[in-house]
Parts: sequence; C-alpha cells; structure tokens
Amino acid sequence: MFFKPGTHKDAGLHYNPLKAIVAPRPIGWIASRGNDKSLNLAPYSFFNAIAELPPMVMFSAGSNPDGSDKDSLRNVKETGEFTVNIVGAAQGDAMNITSGSYAYGSNEFELANLGMIDGETVNVPRVANVPAALECTHWQTIVLPADEGAHPCSMVIGRVTGIYIDDDVVVDGKIDNTLFQPLARLGYKDYAKVTELFEMSRPTTTA
Ligand SMILES: Cc1cc2nc3c(=O)[nH]c(=O)nc-3n(C[C@H](O)[C@H](O)[C@H](O)COP(=O)(O)O)c2cc1C
Repeated sequence: MFFKPGTHKDAGLHYNPLKAIVAPRPIGWIASRGNDKSLNLAPYSFFNAIAELPPMVMFSAGSNPDGSDKDSLRNVKETGEFTVNIVGAAQGDAMNITSGSYAYGSNEFELANLGMIDGETVNVPRVANVPAALECTHWQTIVLPADEGAHPCSMVIGRVTGIYIDDDVVVDGKIDNTLFQPLARLGYKDYAKVTELFEMSRPTTTA
C-alpha cells in the first residue's frame, strides 16, 4: 500500500501507523522543575540523542488538548534544565504511571513511588535506581508546523552536562544493555525490551 499522511483509514489502517513504522523508539523519561520549584516526570518517545561532541539530546512534546504546553515543556521553558532517565525493564510500570495527565505541580516521582537523587550539574533530580541518566541544559526549542486545527509539537534540544551510569551495568568498561533491558516504544500500546545483542563491524574504507 501507499498513501499520503492523514489518509491511513482509506488505506484500511485503523490508526495512524507512523509510530509503528518508526519503531522501536527509545524512551526519554524527562524530569524537570518549574519556577515554583515543583517537580515533574513524564515519558517521551519522540526522543533521541542527536550529537556526540558535545552530547545533545532532544524530545518532542505535543500540546495538551486545550493547546497549552505539557508540563515538561513548560518547566524547561521556565528553568532551562531537565534530566533524561533511561527506562529499564524494571522501571516500566512506574514509567507508565508517570504518563498520566496529572494537574500541573503534581509530583510524579511521588505518585509512582520513585526515589530522587539530586543532580550534580542541574537543579533537577534523576530517578533513583535507573540504569543511566543524562543531566541537560536547554539549548533551543523548535516549534514544529501543525496541521490545520491541530496544536503544534515543540522539539526541545538540550546539551548534556552530566552523565550518570549505574556501575552495576558496566562490564569490562562497556555498558551491557542486557543487564537492564532498556524499554522501547513501538506503535499502539506496544513496547519492546532489549534482551539480545549482536555485533557488526563497519566496512573498512578503501576509496
Ligand atoms: C512511552 C510513552 C511515550 C510518550 N511519548 C510522548 C512524546 O514523545 N511526546 C508527547 O507529547 N507525549 C508523549 N507521551 C505522553 C506523555 O507522557 C503524557 O502526555 C504526559 O502526561 C505528559 O506529561 P507532562 O505534561 O507532565 O510533561 C508518551 C507516553 C508514553 C507512555
């Protein structure tokens, strides 16, 4: 089949398939703090690392149904900092709890019974017991185009200022992903976890 965006139903697909096509996507579990000092935690799968030197990451937040900013976006606009927490299989249920639509100022760390560890380079905590976390400062937000009648998504780009890794997931100087089985988001309500690895070396350049 082939179709243009927005016409998936005519093609026999019940739901917009984009997120099942661009899958698996890593999950950035974003912690942030507002000007009022309140804390927020929510998962974003429009998330990725986008550069290494310096390390940069991005997440993309849709709007609330009334067009207002999601709390994570509001907080990053207000205080310019966030942490990205990596979701291992053990954190899946808690991550899901934090995706609920709670009133601004609700502390999802408490709602999901999660511990907090103070940031080293930012005034935002990371989630206790995650396999890894990135402390970030806001670099730039790009407001993406919106279809007629839709609210825009905002792509938040941050610069990584601190990196936490649980020593227990490091083996021989390398992170072993099978030790925490990072969760990834697919389409619909589907998730995947990394349980198996294989290596490939890039071709050596001769030309
Ligand atoms: C695994 C997962 C991934 C999600 N990814 C996104 C995303 O990339 N962008 C987005 O706007 N909402 C995403 N959501 C929904 C938000 O987590 C949800 O709207 C949440 O309430 C936003 O919280 P906040 O307003 O506290 O930032 C995702 C939800 C789940 C469970």
